[in-house]
Amino acid sequence: MAECYREFAEGGFGLVITEGTYTDKVFAQGDLHQPGLTDDAQAAAWHHVVEEVHAAGGKIVAQLMHAGALSQGNPHRTGTAGPSATVPKGAQMAHFRGAGPYRMPDEMAAAAIAEAVAGFAAASVRARGAGFDRVEVHGANGYLLDQFLTEGVNRRTDAYGGQAAARVRLMAETVRAVRAAAGPDFLVGVRVSQAKVNDHAHSWAGREDDARTIFPALAAGGADYIHTTEHEAWRPAFKDGGPTLAALAKKHSGLPVIANGGLHNPAAPPPCWTPGRRTWPHLPAAHWRNRTGRSACAADGPCWSLTAAHWNPWPTSPTRTRAAQAAAEPNRAGWQPLPLSVEQQRDLHPSTTGAEHGNRDSTWR
Ligand SMILES: Cc1cc2nc3c(=O)[nH]c(=O)nc-3n(C[C@H](O)[C@H](O)[C@H](O)COP(=O)(O)O)c2cc1C
Repeated sequence: MAECYREFAEGGFGLVITEGTYTDKVFAQGDLHQPGLTDDAQAAAWHHVVEEVHAAGGKIVAQLMHAGALSQGNPHRTGTAGPSATVPKGAQMAHFRGAGPYRMPDEMAAAAIAEAVAGFAAASVRARGAGFDRVEVHGANGYLLDQFLTEGVNRRTDAYGGQAAARVRLMAETVRAVRAAAGPDFLVGVRVSQAKVNDHAHSWAGREDDARTIFPALAAGGADYIHTTEHEAWRPAFKDGGPTLAALAKKHSGLPVIANGGLHNPAAPPPCWTPGRRTWPHLPAAHWRNRTGRSACAADGPCWSLTAAHWNPWPTSPTRTRAAQAAAEPNRAGWQPLPLSVEQQRDLHPSTTGAEHGNRDSTWR
């Protein structure tokens, strides 16, 4: 695992975001082979990974995840828990060794919600202790925090259910708790999506009104950046046209935004592209050795697509010369050099997820 993550940094990614890492020994774990950050032993194991990435000149973010009702393997509990007792759509992901329908979750009572939030907070402290450069709260892709955000999945009638402002409450509270626990000088991000691993077509019913509620709530919770993901991040967020989800995140949060999703197509405009505005050349989020990259947008409008940092023509590691890098990446014809230094990339939160060691398919965490 350390070697896997190190390779990203050696290949030129300025910042690596880990796979979703479970946060407590109650209901958070998503599958039996998922890494965690729930005790000192797990933190120590991550410390080795962090050291490897740092040694290769990269920075690394711990992505904190609670699977909620989408858990398909958890040695700590026999059942699952979510916002409401509703069987999730779709089927368990074979990619994570699941099969058949998801289980009926228990509806989380107030104490269980508090326990989940505390798990995120404690995991962020362990991440910091393990040497991570920042943490990212996984609020996307259908997992616990996204379950609370999603109408129909969240059928609660308490303060966590109903309108978007109530449904985003748990995600914002989690960001706030992580921010408080990890400290004011530690960067905290949050990942947001409409689509889910078990419901690819989901779209926010409240459309831009929802965006107007959700993104400011996350900024108010203390997030330093928003990380949006869509199947094709450069397309309008909603069916009838309009801005991308990344652009809405930027507009309504005022924060730096990382955009992810289908950005390996060099012909597609960057997700924050605005006609007539200066943008950097769009770089494909290359599937480097079948791993997925991501792009980043700066806070002030122009969008930098940084996930193809490994196409950077400069040697990015003392152990890898430019010639060696080119030899390792023979398909780079037509790809454009990255106009930013690795240091600039880091400042702008470029990223990749190291978990994506399989071929690209419809399963993602
Ligand atoms: C096998 C696999 C595992 C993934 N695991 C994670 C994860 O742990 N956390 C996360 O935020 N995204 C995860 N993703 C989603 C990717 O980060 C990304 O959103 C998705 O692949 C779409 O982007 P792309 O079109 O650039 O591939 C995973 C994707 C795949 C294929």
